[in-house]
Amino acid sequence: MPVISEPDALEALRRQDPELAEVILGEAERQADGLQLIAAENFVSPAVLAALGSPLANKYAEGYPGARHHGGCEIVDVAERMAVERAQALFGAAHVNVQAHSGSSAVLAAYAVLLRPGDTVLAMGLAAGGHLTHGSPANFSGRWFDFVSYGVDPETGLIDLDEVRALARAHRPKAIVCGSISYPRHIDYAAFRDIADDVGAHLIADAAHPIGLVAGGAAPNPVPYADIVCATTHKVLRGPRGGMLLCGAELADRVDRAVFPFTQSGAQMHTIAAKAVAFGEAATPAFTGYAHQVVANARVLAAALEAEGFAVTTGGTDTHLVTVDPAPLGDGVGVDGRTARGRLASAGMVLDTCALPYGEGRGLRLGTAAVTTQGMGETEMARIAVLLSGVVRDAFDVRAVREEVRELARRFPPYPGG
Ligand SMILES: Cc1ncc(COP(=O)(O)O)c(C=O)c1O
Repeated sequence: MPVISEPDALEALRRQDPELAEVILGEAERQADGLQLIAAENFVSPAVLAALGSPLANKYAEGYPGARHHGGCEIVDVAERMAVERAQALFGAAHVNVQAHSGSSAVLAAYAVLLRPGDTVLAMGLAAGGHLTHGSPANFSGRWFDFVSYGVDPETGLIDLDEVRALARAHRPKAIVCGSISYPRHIDYAAFRDIADDVGAHLIADAAHPIGLVAGGAAPNPVPYADIVCATTHKVLRGPRGGMLLCGAELADRVDRAVFPFTQSGAQMHTIAAKAVAFGEAATPAFTGYAHQVVANARVLAAALEAEGFAVTTGGTDTHLVTVDPAPLGDGVGVDGRTARGRLASAGMVLDTCALPYGEGRGLRLGTAAVTTQGMGETEMARIAVLLSGVVRDAFDVRAVREEVRELARRFPPYPGG
């Protein structure tokens, strides 16, 4: 039986609500039975799962440690202080708020600190890889602020810093946001800081994707450059689903008040405890090795996909992210990202589509965080690229690939012995 939380607790759930228990077991089975290549996903440790499934889930705790609106918080206060102190040490930040319920909540709070409705904000456009919270008309950000978008160079796929500076000078934004859901290269935070200073703007780094690599020393740290860093604690960082904000001492009080009481009320103490566990794990040499292996795997995957005929955006990757266009596959067998994703799903390879630096078509976005947690290395990445290509080109028998994918995933169980 896969590790889900306390085995006894699972047994009790099975007796009480077999229907829902089956759903949980079915999902655990699905995760272990294929290749999870969604760039934002990972497998948290049994210790993180234990904290998430703990009685801290019962506790109401509005406010901050030592200053709560509810009684009985003296023990959960310890958990929150541990999470904050561990994150401060991990990222070298003077202040960390670990209460944000998600990455989006963290961005909302950062905007609440630095902006007023109607202010102009410069961020990566959604068509180039910006997040919903970077100005989508369907999101509060696009409704309440006046977003101006920078893109990526259609040829190289890289951020054009000259374009960012020109837009900043033309529009004089109150804040500039750097961060993306799919940009596979390191972001030059020093250059963004320079542009922000040039026009008197605040700099917000939305490091939801690379923050786990930062923890493991495999990506540059935005903390010294940005006024506020927003991040998620899931993804490569391998903690529970949630958000956090990191900033200097001068914004500490305003960031805390922007999270509670401005945009949230009760903190989720079980999640905060799980964040503390994940930060503890991320501070170990094993996690440093993991973060570097994530990048090494992504580089092999990108090179192997390129060898198969995919157009690899930016020509490679510095991170866990690989974005490719399947359309140029040879002999007219290339397809668009949506068709490719559907074919791959039936072969047990789960991934997302993404925007491409050019045109209207969709590409594929892959990430190596989850498969690396499972223990896969360069050899497996090279094989995955071959399987992926064969399925997208419709050149391989999908049932045979599904079997090979299953066998590969079973050799690297996410919860060994579970
Ligand atoms: C750059 C960026 N910002 C914000 C978020 C939002 O995170 P959440 O889904 O936890 O709200 C994401 C999630 O993928 C992201 O990639």
